[in-house]
Amino acid sequence: MHAYLIAKTAHLFFVFAFVASAFYLPRILVNLAESRDDGPAVRARLMLMGRRLYRFGHVMFGLALLLGVLLWLGYRVFPGFPTMVAPGSGWLHAKLGAVVLMLVHFVVGGRWLKGLDQGRALPSAGTLRWFNELPIVLLVAIIWLVLAKPF
Ligand code: HEM
Repeated sequence: MHAYLIAKTAHLFFVFAFVASAFYLPRILVNLAESRDDGPAVRARLMLMGRRLYRFGHVMFGLALLLGVLLWLGYRVFPGFPTMVAPGSGWLHAKLGAVVLMLVHFVVGGRWLKGLDQGRALPSAGTLRWFNELPIVLLVAIIWLVLAKPF
């Protein structure tokens, strides 16, 4: 059980880092959309921050995913390793559905950021503010599903 708790601690550590990136990238896009009159230096700094955050978020997601798979299927490889995922339990599938939506949201934000390099315009600051709220709804659903395991 000790190894399982270490794996879950590491899973949550990388999940927190990914979620922080997923929450912050839209904020940088909002600032970019509102910084049209702030001069090239400010925009260049915001774009650099966005690119670094986008790369960091992907690495954190990859590590959270690896540890999530270990928590889920580790028992098939490591004798005595527990699992909380009973066969046929739908909570993990529903959770993974919400996780995929969160990753798609992150990639869309990254595409909008990269589009600026090709001269493509960002959506309006208003649209980006709504876009910014989506991960909150998804995260609440993910946490509820994994804690309550309702089905
Ligand atoms: C944004 C992404 C994710 C979030 C926010 C998240 C959140 C969490 C949380 C809060 C827990 C602790 C639950 C508890 O202690 O009862 C957990 C455990 C777990 N997660 Fe994730 N997770 C994410 C991604 C993933 C992925 C991609 C997988 C699988 C491939 C996964 C599989 C698991 C499993 C199997 C557990 C153990 C459940 C338990 O011990 O009760 N998670 N996750």
